[in-house]
Amino acid sequence: MGQFKMSTRIVITGKIPSAGVKALHDAGFSPITWNHDHQITRPELLEFAKGAEVVITLLTEKVDDELLDAVGPQLKAVCNVAVGYNNIDVAACTRRNVRVTNTPGVLTDATADIAFALILMVTRRLGEGERVIRATEPWQWGMNYMLGAGIQKRQLGIIGMGAIGIATAHRAKAFGMTIAYFSRSPIDKTIAEELNAAQLSLNDLLATSDVVSVHCPSNEATHHLIGTAQLKQMKNTAFLINTARGPIVNEQQLVDALDSGEIAGAGLDVFEFEPKVNAGLLNRENVVLIPHLGSATQETRAAMATLAASNAISICNNQEPPSPVN
Ligand code: DGY
Repeated sequence: MGQFKMSTRIVITGKIPSAGVKALHDAGFSPITWNHDHQITRPELLEFAKGAEVVITLLTEKVDDELLDAVGPQLKAVCNVAVGYNNIDVAACTRRNVRVTNTPGVLTDATADIAFALILMVTRRLGEGERVIRATEPWQWGMNYMLGAGIQKRQLGIIGMGAIGIATAHRAKAFGMTIAYFSRSPIDKTIAEELNAAQLSLNDLLATSDVVSVHCPSNEATHHLIGTAQLKQMKNTAFLINTARGPIVNEQQLVDALDSGEIAGAGLDVFEFEPKVNAGLLNRENVVLIPHLGSATQETRAAMATLAASNAISICNNQEPPSPVN
């Protein structure tokens, strides 16, 4: 068994926190990590993953038929070090009996913190304020200087009330906001009562919320869920926050809506064509832009790597992984 494990080819497509690698070693495996300073390119990935039984992927790696063909029929599992798995063609994996896993739960708080940070930043004009100081522009406290929008008693509308949506709602409630949500299914009754959260249709949520925060998965059904029509429905004093995935929001249509004053601003951690950011967003004071930092704490990334490793170990040991996708 030990011998078998040692020879199981597990490849990791980019450097992950050592806790994850250690977990694999402790379980008797010898994973091979893409250990170069640059992010693996597609041709490098196709070559590097060849012959793997398990591929531990980062969200920057597209797992599709081409990659699955290149890896070969011995592949047992693709273990994503992310909760979102829109980089993986799950149907293609399922067709080949390849298990897919992700890392839910361990990044809930970190991501909700970032969503809430964006809410505060954009409503209170913190990016704009910081830019004034850094540019050494003259400034002076003033009664009417750089006034933002208060969030107390304002409605936060959450699109996708999974764990991260709920965690964001808890933060919002603590800050005195009211909560509405749009979700395929109603949330647990106790949580809904605790949050005093109203389940609304998407149209009603957009029309009544002061801040709309996106927390749903990215898939065919949610691609461009927010575009011109939805942005028009929002109040022109409202803000859009996205910490989920870029393609859920039509980025050009968001720029157009900001241009025409359909909404008051946006806070974005994710982008439609990441890492590219639509040029129309860059010079706007009413937009806060951060580079996909939702799960970027040391503790969270270590927990994600460890969970991805546990998924891989379970599958190699013919056990059910802790967080299966298929
Ligand atoms: C995830 O896990 O999906 C996050 O976006 C990573 O930061």
